[in-house]
Amino acid sequence: STYRIAVIPGDGIGKEVVPASLEALEATAARFGLRLELTGFGFASAEYWQRHGTMLPDDWEATLRGFDAILFGAVGWPAVVPDHISLWGSLLRFRRTFDQYVNLRPCRLMPGVRSPLAGRAPGDIDFLVVRENTEGEYSSVGGRIFEGTERETVLQETVMTRVGVDRVLRYAYELADRRPKRHLTSATKSNGIAISMPYWDERVAAMGESFPGVRVDRFHIDALAAEFVLHPDRFDVVVASNLFGDILSDLGPACTGTLGIAPSANINPDRTAPSLFEPVHGSAPDIAGRGIANPIGQIWCASMMLEHLGHPAAAAHLLGAVEDVLALGPGEAPLTPDLHGTGTTAELGHAVAERVRER
Ligand code: NAI
Ligand code: MG
Repeated sequence: STYRIAVIPGDGIGKEVVPASLEALEATAARFGLRLELTGFGFASAEYWQRHGTMLPDDWEATLRGFDAILFGAVGWPAVVPDHISLWGSLLRFRRTFDQYVNLRPCRLMPGVRSPLAGRAPGDIDFLVVRENTEGEYSSVGGRIFEGTERETVLQETVMTRVGVDRVLRYAYELADRRPKRHLTSATKSNGIAISMPYWDERVAAMGESFPGVRVDRFHIDALAAEFVLHPDRFDVVVASNLFGDILSDLGPACTGTLGIAPSANINPDRTAPSLFEPVHGSAPDIAGRGIANPIGQIWCASMMLEHLGHPAAAAHLLGAVEDVLALGPGEAPLTPDLHGTGTTAELGHAVAERVRER
């Protein structure tokens, strides 16, 4: 079958790492007999904003809805557009309109990458953070009253719906159930946040009845943050509300090395709209235009996309090629400066594509 993929590079290094990822993606598709039809779009960028005064065309939803997946680089160029406009005007609209209610971030210590945590070897750290991506603490319910007076009051509500909580919990349980460790950790804070978080805990317990094979534990978010740093090897699948998941899904990849290799997926598990695959990093204005950005995060995203499209063997093959190249180290492979090498974005992308063809 043919898969239609929308490719949106965005800003800064997005325009470098996205092209560098495509050769490895296409080599993988060729190897597994998958036909990909890639269509590039220039919106969701500062350039588009400068020309049109908006981040997206009016018909963006109809334009993107028919695609099987979206491969996204990074958006944001603060020198031209304030970040709250560029992000709320593009990425956050995609997530909400396409009901991408799961944000999935793998945290895996890769060969050849130095963990900032002492004494960890590849294989020690390999877990997934599942973040609720559409409601919770990031609601627009609230406001300000008595502005500018001594009684100035600001309120922003947390919204948890049964449908919204249950669907992300079901996804996390199903994911844990398919992995060898069958272990799910829930992030909570029901000792301090005494209305919404006890509800979250209740739903975790209720959903658990349908998954008797999954071992469940829970940590308060403060203790969990410490545990990520002290014992990252103890986790398998970690599920969290929008805010807690946001924090954990930056902390997790930070424990496994450079930001340049970390991938993420915004998934609509019901497949009523396309899912979006983007590296964890942003547009990196400090290094953009120099050809030294690490394309591995973007390539790993392409692997997650193949998995989502129903091709786990192709996904594993591509990720295996990434691991092989990283394991060679900066002496043998054209690794980028963040991995202590002198390679360029294009060279590293090409090396992974070559490895895809060879292995
Ligand atoms: P950033 O992730 O762009 O950069 C943080 C640091 O990591 C920089 O020193 C950068 O050089 C380095 N870095 C990032 N990706 C790298 C890669 N692939 N290879 C080597 N080094 C890499 O975060 P920052 O600077 O806070 O944000 C820059 C812009 O990106 C802002 O406009 C921000 O809003 C936007 N942003 C967009 C995101 C998205 O599209 N999902 C996510 C995060 C930030
Ligand atoms: Mg974040």
